[in-house]
This record gives sequence, C-alpha cells and structure tokens, in this order.
Amino acid sequence: MPRALVTGISGQTGSYLAELLLQEGYEVHGVIRRSSLIKTDRIDHIFDRITLHYGDLTDGMNLMHLVQKIQPDEIYNMAAQSHVQVSFETPEYTANADALGTLRFLEIIRTVNPKIKFYQASTSELYGSTHPPQDEESKFQPVSPYGTAKLYAYWLTRNYRDGYGLFSVNGILFNHEGPRRGETFVTRKVTRWVAQYKLGLTDKPLQIGNVHAVRDWTDARDMVRGIYLIMCQDIPKDYVLGTGVGRTILDLLIESFSCIGVKLVWDDEKEQGIDRATSKVVVEVNPKYKRPLEVNSIIANPSKANTELGWTPQISFKQMIKEMVENDILSFSK
Ligand code: GDD
Repeated sequence: MPRALVTGISGQTGSYLAELLLQEGYEVHGVIRRSSLIKTDRIDHIFDRITLHYGDLTDGMNLMHLVQKIQPDEIYNMAAQSHVQVSFETPEYTANADALGTLRFLEIIRTVNPKIKFYQASTSELYGSTHPPQDEESKFQPVSPYGTAKLYAYWLTRNYRDGYGLFSVNGILFNHEGPRRGETFVTRKVTRWVAQYKLGLTDKPLQIGNVHAVRDWTDARDMVRGIYLIMCQDIPKDYVLGTGVGRTILDLLIESFSCIGVKLVWDDEKEQGIDRATSKVVVEVNPKYKRPLEVNSIIANPSKANTELGWTPQISFKQMIKEMVENDILSFSK
C-alpha cells in the first residue's frame, strides 16, 4: 500500500486529494496546525481512515521527524498561507511558510530518502502581470508577496529535480473552487452572501473589491485528479491545470445571483450591482478589498495537461457555482 503525506489536508484541495488517494488505495497521513478551535470539518467524514499529525511548514525539525516517522512514498505539499491579499500584510510569514517550507521538504527528501516523490502546489499567481493565455513556457512576473514566495518554491522544485534527480514536480494550478472553498476567497464570499440574501438574512449590500479582474475557475475536484495524474507520470514534469476560459468577478456575481433567480444589473460609474426586480443595491465596491497590486487577467492554456495527461475538467463553471450557492443556502438554513 503506497503511503502519502499531505500537508494542508484540512484545506479545500488537500481534503479532496485525501479522498482521492484513499480511493486509489493509499495509506494517507496529513499534517494539520494546532489551533484552539478544531477546524477539521472538511475531513471529518474520513477521519477514521487517515492519520493526522501536528506540524507546520515553518518548523523544519518537525517536518524532518514526520518524514522519518511516516516514511512516505509521496509528499503532496498543499499547505500554504494561500490568501494573496493577506500576503501583503504578512509577507514574512508567507515567505517562511510558502517559500522556505518547500525548501525544508526538498532538503529533507534529498538527505533522508531521495526516492520520495514530491508534489509542489504551484500557482497561476506566478504569472502576475504576464498577459494570458499562460502556459508552462510563459514568463513569471508575480505581483504579490504570495506569488513571489511561490516562485521561489517553484524554482527550487525544479532545481532539486534537475540537480539531484528527485521526482519533484509543480502543478501550476489556476483558481480552483467548490463548496469547501475558504470563505474569504471571492467565489465563496459571493455564494455565501447570495445564499444569505435569498434567505433574507442580510440587509446590507455585499462589499466587494475589483470586479474587472479575470480568473480561470476550475472545480477543485477536477484539479485533484490532475494533481494525481501529474504524480503518476514516469517522467517528472510541471503542468498547467485550468479550463482555458476566463471570466470576470462581475461574471461570477451575475452567475451567482442568477442561481437564486435574481437578475443583477451593474452600474460601472457608481460601482454598484442592482437587483433588477427590486431596484435594491445588492453589491457595492469597497476599496478595502482592492489589493496594492492586482493580477488583472489569468487564463490557462492547459494543452500540455490535455494531451500528455489526458486531463480535462468535467464540472462546468455553471454547475460549480450552482452547487456552491445551494450548499450555502442549505448550511444557512440549518
Ligand atoms: N478574496 C477576494 N475578496 N477577492 C476579491 C474580492 C473580495 O472581496 N473582490 C474582488 N476580488 C478579486 C481579487 O482582487 C482577485 O482579482 C480575484 O477576485 C480572485 O481573488 P481570490 O478569490 O482571493 O483568489 P486569488 O486569485 O487572489 O488567489 C487564489 O487563486 C490562486 C491561483 O490558484 C488563491 O487560492 C491562491 O492561493 C491561488 O494560488
């Protein structure tokens, strides 16, 4: 039975990945950070089938002990300080966890057991100001402390592959979402608010940042299939995963409101979204949610993954948003 160690297992993508690895017959170990509030809701349903360990990417000794104790065949580094806006406020911590955390793992693998396969959760934030579509050959020009920290991790993953012959690979994943998405990322923030609006639980307009940014959103469950396929290849390589379709935050708002039968009309001058039936202002731009620097447009060219991995997303954007809104309506109704 192959053994996998998944950091960030209690996060959205880590939790879906753990489910997939269990299905594939793996013994799954996960790393969680200690906190006073228990935050394992995404993995509670598989709690009896996985083994959890306390750990932190900023603690190299701890990671070393975990690798020595668990002796994994594969490590999936899904943990990170993953919020781009927060990285402007916590740049040093972000670099420590996201950049040096990867270095710690690669050094441990190199010295303890170079046969361990390593997956690095790289990101479309690496592209920053590079124009879409972006693929494996596109220029990296990150525009946030998060993107810059992840760029260090990306290159290190390549350096250890090229220099030491490790099976260390980058999945350059564009945005990925779903019902388990963290509540401060834009999709979930919107679907949660729309659910509250539907249930009459809120009176104030949704406060939002830049509505013109373009993102390529994929369902996180499609993404974890891609991650697994990247790790199953004979030759370690980096792959871009995304749909190839770009949508604005405004498209996301319109789609989400349509799930509850509301036609959203956007007034670009006032920066407000209006419920056409009631003329009520339901969305308002708040500069607080705008970033010091913005990634304006990222759209994947996933051709390499399509051809070499046979990977294409199965769940459409429409289906994904519908499920997220319905899920949020259910949880607010409880
Ligand atoms: N979070 C947030 N909140 N974003 C907003 C808001 C808001 O109120 N209003 C507008 N946005 C815009 C952001 O400015 C950005 O352009 C876009 O919505 C998406 O923001 P996020 O959902 O926070 O995601 P992200 O693109 O910054 O980063 C996510 O995707 C990356 C690529 O996969 C994160 O998951 C990263 O960790 C990941 O690497």
